[in-house]
Amino acid sequence: MDEARSLPSPEQDASLSPIMEHGLQRQVLVCTAKSCAANGSEAVLEAFRTRLMAESMLFHKGDRTGDIQCITCGSVGFCAIGPAVLVYPDGVWYAHVTPEDVPEIIDSHLKGGVPVERLVRKRLV
Ligand code: FES
Repeated sequence: MDEARSLPSPEQDASLSPIMEHGLQRQVLVCTAKSCAANGSEAVLEAFRTRLMAESMLFHKGDRTGDIQCITCGSVGFCAIGPAVLVYPDGVWYAHVTPEDVPEIIDSHLKGGVPVERLVRKRLV
């Protein structure tokens, strides 16, 4: 019936995807879908990327030494309480995040491991 699909080896994939070999510590996902965008999520995303880049914490094409990836995501269901920001692998979902909250999230959570409780609305772990 179905023939086994021939996939590249993990080593071959790693040569094409440097992030596979990199020791990422966390991912920060900022929802940029319609409702969060209407509440300023693009500015939140920019605040994260600017500060993380300034502190050499951001993994990106220009500098692959950072250990945090900051990316956009689609709606996660926090539409009425966004902008939503999710931090993994911690499974912490923040709501109502503004650009002014970003330094506190970076300092307390991403650097110190202590989530900013006043903004936490859901935990997956
Ligand atoms: S639009 Fe961001 S959670 Fe729905």
